[in-house]
Formats: sequence, C-alpha cells, structure tokens
Amino acid sequence: MNIKIFDTTLRDGEQTPGVALSPTQKLSIAKKLDGLGVDVIEAGFPIISNGESQAIKLITKENLAAEICGLARTNKKDIDAVVNAGLNYVHMFIATSDIHLKYKLRLTRKQVIEKAIETIEYSKSYGLKIEFSAEDATRTERNFLKKMFKTVAESGANIIDIPDTVGYATPQYIGEITKDAVDITRLPISIHCHDDFGLAVANTISSIQNGAKCAHVTINGIGERAGNTPLEELVMALKCLQFDKKLNTNIKTELLYDTSKYISKLVKVPVQPNKAIVGDNAFSHESGIHTHGILNNPLTYEPISPELVGRNRWLTVGKHAGIHGINFMLKDYNMKPNSTQTKIILNKIKNICDQGKQITDTELFTIANETIGQYKENKLVKLIGFSVSTGIGTMPYAFVKLNINGKDFFATDYGVGPVDASLNAIQKITGKISQLYIKEYKLASISGGSNALCEVTIKIEDTHNNNISSKYIGEDIVTTSVKAMIDGINKIMLKKTN
Ligand code: KIV
Ligand code: ZN
Repeated sequence: MNIKIFDTTLRDGEQTPGVALSPTQKLSIAKKLDGLGVDVIEAGFPIISNGESQAIKLITKENLAAEICGLARTNKKDIDAVVNAGLNYVHMFIATSDIHLKYKLRLTRKQVIEKAIETIEYSKSYGLKIEFSAEDATRTERNFLKKMFKTVAESGANIIDIPDTVGYATPQYIGEITKDAVDITRLPISIHCHDDFGLAVANTISSIQNGAKCAHVTINGIGERAGNTPLEELVMALKCLQFDKKLNTNIKTELLYDTSKYISKLVKVPVQPNKAIVGDNAFSHESGIHTHGILNNPLTYEPISPELVGRNRWLTVGKHAGIHGINFMLKDYNMKPNSTQTKIILNKIKNICDQGKQITDTELFTIANETIGQYKENKLVKLIGFSVSTGIGTMPYAFVKLNINGKDFFATDYGVGPVDASLNAIQKITGKISQLYIKEYKLASISGGSNALCEVTIKIEDTHNNNISSKYIGEDIVTTSVKAMIDGINKIMLKKTN
C-alpha cells in the first residue's frame, strides 16, 4: 500500500520559534522537497503576509511534480488568499475541542459546524480541493468529532485530516479515531501529529495501521514546540519495520540525509546528534565491542545500512575503543600499526579518556603517528598567515593566505564575526580542491580570566560524507579556530587520497 507524504516544512515547520524564510528560500526548499519525492507540499499560509503569498505564487508557478497546497481558516478572506496565490488545493482548519471553542474561538459547537459548512461551500465555488482539519481533534469530545467528520464530508471536503495539535494522543486512541473517520466519511484520511510527548511517529504509524492513507510530516521534525512527525523517521520506519501489509512511499530515501542538512542549514535549526536517521551519531560507533561486530557484519549493530539514507558509517575513538576499531580507522590514513604499537596507541587513548577528555580524529592521527613515526610531513595545506578586522559599524572581515601542495593561495571573506569570516575565507580557498561543510563548532574556555586558554573543536564533512573532528587549544580564539580547521582539512584530505 502506498502512503502519501504531505510535507508541511514550509508551513508548520516555519512556525518553529525563530524560523522565518524569504520567498526565494521557500522556493528552494520546495524544489528540494519535490526532488525528494514528497506527494504534497504545504507551501504556507497565504493570508499571513505579502511575502508568504509571494512565496506560494513562486512555488505554484514552478510546476513541480508534487501537489501544492496552502493553509486557510474557515473564512472567506483566507480562501480568497489561497485562490489569489494560485493554489487549487486548500488545507482548511477550525478547532473543535471545547478548550479552543471557549478560550480561543468563543464559538459554540453549532457555530463551528456552520462556519465549516459555509467555508467548504465557498471553497467549492472556486473548485478547490479541500483537506479539512478538525484542529485539536484528539482533545475533542469524541461524539462531536464524529459529527464534525460527517458534516464536512457531506458538505464536500475531499480529504479529512486528524491533527493531534498538542501531541496529546496515545497510539491506541489515535487508531480509534482514525477508524471513526474512515467508517463515517469513507474519504481518504490524513494524520497530522505533534511530538510533545515524543510519540509523533508512533501515533502516525498507528493511524496508518487503522486506515490513514497520508501522513503530514516535516524535515527533521521541525515545527511548533517539540515539532511535527519527522519525515525521515516515518519514511524509514514504514520502509524497514515489520507491518502486516507492505507500506511504501514515493520518497527517494538516499536523498534523506542531504535534504536534512540542506534544510537544517537554511532554517538555522541544528539537528540533535542522537536524532534517528539524520543525527550525527545515528551511524557512528565508538565501543570496541560494537565496532568489532560492525566490522564483521554491520547488521550486528546497525538496523539499516547508512547508504540507504545517503550516509556513511563513522567510527569514533573513545574510552570504549578496541583494537579492531582503531586499526580500521587508521587504515583510512594508510597506517598499519603492529600489535605492540596498537596496544600503545590504545593505552594512550584510554589514559586521555579516563581524564574525562574527548579524542578527536586528528588527535588519534597524531597519537598513532607519534607511535609509528610514519608521516614526517602530513600537511597538504599550510597556514602562511591571516589577519582579521572586527568592530562596531563594520562587517567582520578576514584575509587568509594558505599554501596548498607548494602553491600559495589567498582569499578574503566576511562573516558574522572574525572566526566565521576566517573560516569562510579558508573554505573559499580549499573549496577549489574539496567542498567542505562545517557540521559543528564548539568553543570552550579551559582556564579563567580574559587570558584564558580556549579549546576549539570542529567537525567537518566532505562531499563524500567523510567526517573528521579536530581540536586545537590556544590563547586566541580566532587563531585557535583557524588552526583547528586547517588541521581537520589536512586529515580529511589524507583520508580521501588514500
Ligand atoms: O497542528 C495543527 O493542529 C495544525 C492545524 C493548522 C491543522 O497545524
Ligand atoms: Zn500542526
């Protein structure tokens, strides 16, 4: 059975606190979602602003393969805005729970029903396709919810959506009201869950198991408060877990990671490291027992292969590391320590970790190289010099000079601060040989006072999904950041060339 994916990253996702997108940013996200294979894109809420309506017009003109829809309340102005934005598909909603009726809408149940009927009829006069949401359905008195489903179906709605607006439902209850909606309306049912109790994916699946044919989701689960059902988690669960019937979607799963990174960067909402499917740690292994198992057969400690979602496996070093994992990681740098050397490397690592310190990939390289003495010169990229300017009333600016493989290069760039400007300038130069993406930047002060030592940790990824973490300690934040970055670049390049 095919389950439709209705993506609301551009509407509910944009309601994430702090997120606001320009029309061109919204268009670029719509194109990305279309490429991923979503069936419906909820492009926005046209009545809210000119920019929003402009964005939706740009998206509708693009003739994407996905259907495009817009949100509206049950009033004529909202419906006119949907039509004026060039849409022929409306996601219409009105709240049905007593708490919303009393404190928000100040309407009786009868008035809510009348408004819904009137607006459905008005939308029909424009020939709109109508997906109707009974907002806060899961806190609505069940008999009234059934009455609402029946009324809107009889009035001409084409699809019924069940919103779990504050993530309040249990999987069992959402299953029951989905069955109600199917039995009463015989229309296609959608499910729209929020993650306030971490149940959005489970609730969406339960609704699907009880007859829903379409799931409302967002990339990385962004959305109001704790967010919406994450597209990537739901799609992979439907694809890989065991159900009575086979459940498919049209999503090109190998594009999931790339889409997640793209949207996280544009909306400036980082993905938590332990997030399923797209989090940094989702396919990384540290423990010796796990890495040993993984190296023999990845299925021992991975439920699915990372390539299925466009990712690579990442082995990391730490307190739980073992001989097999260390040797495997060093192979990336063409290093093959003998058994005595491996034991020395492992002991050094464990001693550092026992002091509560983390070890980055570049530190593993340094420890191994000190022990084996393999690379006399391992720097493809050398820092010749840099300068930065910052202050009030000017934009932070950096000049960087590097030597790559014997040839000098320089670049200048701006940034939000001198660190950002310097790292941007470095990437301008190294981008000529390899595009890099800074996944994480961490700054810690490791002594007191204004002359404190700082510790910068940077995680970078190349276009082959190779990851590297690099750390540097120094007195000056900009210099330390630049050195950590250059060190990481050198190691990631060494990985690639071997
Ligand atoms: O969560 C919700 O109830 C919504 C409605 C607009 C459907 O997003
Ligand atoms: Zn919502």
